[in-house]
Amino acid sequence: METFQLAGPGPVAYEKHLVPVLFEPLAERLVALVRAAPGESALDVACGTGVVARRLLAIGARVTGLDLNADMLAHARALEPGVTWVEGDAQDLALPAASFDLATCQQGLQFMADAGAALRSIHRVLRPGGRLAVALWRPLRTSPGFDVLTDALDARVGAAAGDVLRAPFAAGDPRPVCDLASRAGFVGVRVHNYCHPTRFESVEDLVRSEIASTPLAEVAQTWPADTIPNMVADVAAALADYVADDGVLFPICSYVVTATASDG
Ligand SMILES: C[S@@+](CC[C@H](N)C(=O)[O-])C[C@H]1O[C@@H](n2cnc3c(N)ncnc32)[C@H](O)[C@@H]1O
Repeated sequence: METFQLAGPGPVAYEKHLVPVLFEPLAERLVALVRAAPGESALDVACGTGVVARRLLAIGARVTGLDLNADMLAHARALEPGVTWVEGDAQDLALPAASFDLATCQQGLQFMADAGAALRSIHRVLRPGGRLAVALWRPLRTSPGFDVLTDALDARVGAAAGDVLRAPFAAGDPRPVCDLASRAGFVGVRVHNYCHPTRFESVEDLVRSEIASTPLAEVAQTWPADTIPNMVADVAAALADYVADDGVLFPICSYVVTATASDG
């Protein structure tokens, strides 16, 4: 199972190239939906380099950010020492029961082999009445730029490379996530839909940024020299209708599941 592990320069590239265009707009929406308030105790699960945790901190919450990946956490810590950064597995949180007022998880649940275990674990660490907000991408076809880049990876490298980029979009249907949340003990489960525009300087910037900032970065070192230029040409042809004077622009769509922890 793809768990979106970055190493070496990966987390810095992720924060620089992908966070501003993909994750920051969504983090703003996610934090609004979870209704964080000053002084509350917040847990951001699968925090990566910390975009959601930083936003919760700015509101005045006391924030813990948890992630599997030590390199992501090291960059998160360098960017914001005011958050408690914890290395751990969301599927089995080693945190005290009933210790958080709210929990967020942005683009992390799709990388967990047992999403139900993660939701049960989050439910355990929330106090009764604690709030949850989980954000996931909608299907790949709702994001034309990544859809055609996945096709180019399939054609120029192979399906295993395309699958790395398909994995983030694998939980596009909210119904199973809602079902797992209910079974984990959450009530008032609701789905909110959100789309925002994404802009890259050029098609080449889109292709190179995505490769440098995802688990493709390491394997890309072994590709023949013409692989990336060929992919850029493929993507430019397929995305011609989305190219503007100031770059390439296309939508990307997510859903956010919100819910409340029951007493049980
Ligand atoms: C696409 S990144 C999202 C990071 C961050 N939430 C954001 O919005 O930028 C996915 C993150 O999920 C983390 N992750 C994957 N499986 C995990 C698990 N079982 N427990 C905790 N973190 C996990 C990865 O290490 C990675 O940092």
